[in-house]
Amino acid sequence: MKNNKIVLIDELQPGSYVIEVYSERVSLNVTSSGWVTSNKAIQMLKDKGVEKVLVDPNRSQPIKTNVAAETAEHKPKTNNRYQYKTTDIKLEMGRAKRLYQGALSLQKRILNEVKLGQNINLSAVKKTCLEMIDSVFYNPNALPCLTALREKESYLFQHSLNVCILAAMFSRYLKKTDEEIELIAQAAFLHDVGKVQIPPEILDKPGRLNADEFEIIKQHVQFGVDLLKKHTDLGSDALNVIAQHHEQLSGGGYPAGLKGEQICQAARIVSIVDIYDALTSERVYKKGMTAAQAYKIMLKMSEDALDKALVKQFINCMGIYPLGSLVLLSNKRLAVVVENNSQWPIKPKVKTFYHTVSRHYTEVKECDLSKLSNLEIEASVQADEYNIPIKKLYDELLFPA
Ligand SMILES: [Fe+2]
Repeated sequence: MKNNKIVLIDELQPGSYVIEVYSERVSLNVTSSGWVTSNKAIQMLKDKGVEKVLVDPNRSQPIKTNVAAETAEHKPKTNNRYQYKTTDIKLEMGRAKRLYQGALSLQKRILNEVKLGQNINLSAVKKTCLEMIDSVFYNPNALPCLTALREKESYLFQHSLNVCILAAMFSRYLKKTDEEIELIAQAAFLHDVGKVQIPPEILDKPGRLNADEFEIIKQHVQFGVDLLKKHTDLGSDALNVIAQHHEQLSGGGYPAGLKGEQICQAARIVSIVDIYDALTSERVYKKGMTAAQAYKIMLKMSEDALDKALVKQFINCMGIYPLGSLVLLSNKRLAVVVENNSQWPIKPKVKTFYHTVSRHYTEVKECDLSKLSNLEIEASVQADEYNIPIKKLYDELLFPA
């Protein structure tokens, strides 16, 4: 970026977005980019011999620090992210794509490590979750859009990642504090870790599970909590969310059959997002539902099992046509939803790319349906109905690097 500037470490302010660090005492160091959030973090850089840093002023957000608060045992509740300035979608989409791929690789690595009985790199999980939450705050239309890119072969990895991203987006919608969002995202990222101990023939069974198999599946919750206790120092609040992600308000959930107020709100949030992503995902043995079909089932479940108010808020947050979903327009073109319109949910912003009558790809055109009275959405559609290679479409046509 042209506006990046080199800042002396003594002049670095908390809230700066650092791209690179330089030291003249030792060789040039290049770390992964990120925000320096406190004076303590700046001091750590000084201690390492860092003398100058490269800062991106567009992403930097001044933070008023309170030295006493920084050293206090319990951090105060903060809402810093709500002050972020919105980043341009093109810029954020490039970053979101890299983040998504990195987070997917981390999911795979973690599940392999767990399988081998190795310790989980929790700091990598926390860092990845922080970066994804920041991305959702910088532009809520970028990273969540990628959750629509599903491949049935890697369901477990993608599902956990998607639940994490959508839970972060939903928590932002609910105006949760920074700390609450971090807790929810971390728990969501790790919520199904215990599935590595479920035999694959049951986990991926193409069809209905019998009662015995379902009993085995249920064990993934306790397996996950035990594995995380053994191989990480994940906090008790996050462990609690993972332990409760299949509980239901009616007491009909598992493993403990908890009821109502016994289930924490963070677990209710993860549970709703978990169900949504499972219903809308395509698996080897089933097609993914459209969002509208999933909402219908979730509203039915909210009569006794799910938190009704949260389900309604989730549907409002996601929109009738969620980000990244495909729609057929009244001019017979296919389009992908790229921005929700909370005032007028049936009129989102879309990108058109395919003509269904002549069956050919067209020049990509962005349309704000709320400004076009003669164009509307006819239906939600699935990519395979038109043999659309969705990943290729995203990478090469809709959001090229
Ligand atoms: Fe689960």
